[in-house]
Amino acid sequence: MRILLIVSAFNSLSQRIFVDLKELGHSPAVIYAASENEMQKKIQDFNPDVIVCPYLKKKLPKTIWENKPTFIIHPGIMGDRGAYSLDWAILEKKQIWGVTIIKANDILDGGDIFASEEFAMRSAPKASIYRHEVATAASKALKNALKNLENKDFTPKKLDYADKEIKGRAHPFMTQNERKIEWQKETTDEIIKKIYASDSFPGVLDEFFGVECYLFGAQKEEFLRGNPKEILAKRDGAVCVGTIDGALWISHMKEKEKMIKLPAAFVLKEKLLGVRENRIPLILEEKRETFKEIFFEEKDSVGYLYFEFHNGAMSAHQCVRLKYAIESVIERDIKVLVLMGGEDFFCNGIHLNIMEDSKKKAEDGWSNLHSMNELARTIIFSTNIITVSALRGGAGAGGVSLAGACDFVVAKDGTVLNPHYMNLGLFGSEYWTYTLPKKIGAEKADELMQKCMPIGAQEAKRIKLVDEVFDENIDKFTKELQEFCSELAKSEDYHDLLLKKREKLKNDELEKSIDSYKEEELKKSYDSFYDENSLFHKLRYEFVHKLCQTQTPKRFKDA
Ligand code: COA
Repeated sequence: MRILLIVSAFNSLSQRIFVDLKELGHSPAVIYAASENEMQKKIQDFNPDVIVCPYLKKKLPKTIWENKPTFIIHPGIMGDRGAYSLDWAILEKKQIWGVTIIKANDILDGGDIFASEEFAMRSAPKASIYRHEVATAASKALKNALKNLENKDFTPKKLDYADKEIKGRAHPFMTQNERKIEWQKETTDEIIKKIYASDSFPGVLDEFFGVECYLFGAQKEEFLRGNPKEILAKRDGAVCVGTIDGALWISHMKEKEKMIKLPAAFVLKEKLLGVRENRIPLILEEKRETFKEIFFEEKDSVGYLYFEFHNGAMSAHQCVRLKYAIESVIERDIKVLVLMGGEDFFCNGIHLNIMEDSKKKAEDGWSNLHSMNELARTIIFSTNIITVSALRGGAGAGGVSLAGACDFVVAKDGTVLNPHYMNLGLFGSEYWTYTLPKKIGAEKADELMQKCMPIGAQEAKRIKLVDEVFDENIDKFTKELQEFCSELAKSEDYHDLLLKKREKLKNDELEKSIDSYKEEELKKSYDSFYDENSLFHKLRYEFVHKLCQTQTPKRFKDA
């Protein structure tokens, strides 16, 4: 089928649906829900069989849904209506939630129901549930809805609240009143729930030391204690705050005045001068509830190194810490090192928000780039161990290149990769010019980098960007990953694998010095950082400040 996606942004869910539809053999195209004229023109030119709206922040004009079957992917169970569905589901402690495919009509979320999928709620930030449970359910529900649409015997369900299967209800808009934390009354769990319900957008509005800011990234603390709302400690940019029954960490804040999401310590700055630094080991191995970004597990001679960096963005400091962590764990008695990345994103490259906030943007961004390069280099040249990157969530730009620095790349089914850098106006780094063409061929590498479109795990496997795709269910994925890595570690061919790796590096070096790839990338990237009129500065500003797209990006013309 020819399927047109109308989106308010080509966000994670829209990208997932786009790659899924391609995988099913459909022809998807994308247009932003910006101007009615533009949408109509695209409909005329593309002549879709169906329109699907995976992420829409405004109502579609009647002229669109009246003339083409148009479906809304709503992140709620059957009968749920209105914005902020997931926020309400978290605040109201729903155990089961879902996704419903609704035919667009003139009642918001009130059209006929073509399919619905449910899932068990997890205690996690809204954005994490959106990127995992909602994406999986939406993918299944849309497949069913498209089948139902073609089935002449299928009758869609009417939105009838007398129907016992329709358990959802219309809910009101959620304001900061419902999100507001009452520090003197609410327990740690209640506060975390409120921050989860608002993370990643809009955050919970609060105030610390007179700075009005939105709060993000809540994590329970097991040991530290103090008065409610008292800042008890700081660590790696996060702050620990007392509650009536314990304490929690808040990793990120967005100052109301400035509206850039940053590590909390970057927002509160000198106000934290007297607050003590609470250190933990570089690699935390003990199971303990606290704010920790890098942690490690070992099983069957395989080391699993997790780096849970918010949004997958890695500052220079985080890159350096991760590099030290890698250097330290490969000294251990393990045969395989698995880079686990974060739960939601494996890695999304240099930290664009921190760079944007810097007074010396070029210098700070440039050193972030160098530290990413050093990290990639450490992985590429780790010749005493087999390395695997495990993509449990998406990866973008430098994050894909970092994964590609490993000997094997495995991905959870449904993962979306964006290997290109040009959407941010960058040539790219992290030795991608060395690793990518060797993996997938120069022509395909060039195509991926130029087209700037997302690629699904299955397609990534077909083109050899990814070696294995394991189950979408995280428990099954973990089991398959562990089996794969244990097999590698105990394989009779293990030493041959290592020898081949060393041989390959030696031959590659002879062909062309591996560091010269990096030098060339740096040369091509220099102006993007140091020319203040570069496209990178403009696009990064727009990305960080989330300036609404008013026009469909050119790269979707042929999509
Ligand atoms: N630096 C800082 N923040 C980043 C980031 C980065 N490199 N990459 C993603 N983020 C943030 C986004 O701002 C967003 O923030 P939120 O907490 O306000 O929601 C969040 O991570 C999720 O990103 P979003 O763009 O909404 O996710 P997506 O799944 O729709 O798209 C990417 C994923 C990777 C395609 C997209 O985030 C992207 O292009 N990132 C930039 C990659 C890049 O160019 N890195 C620099 C060069 S190495």
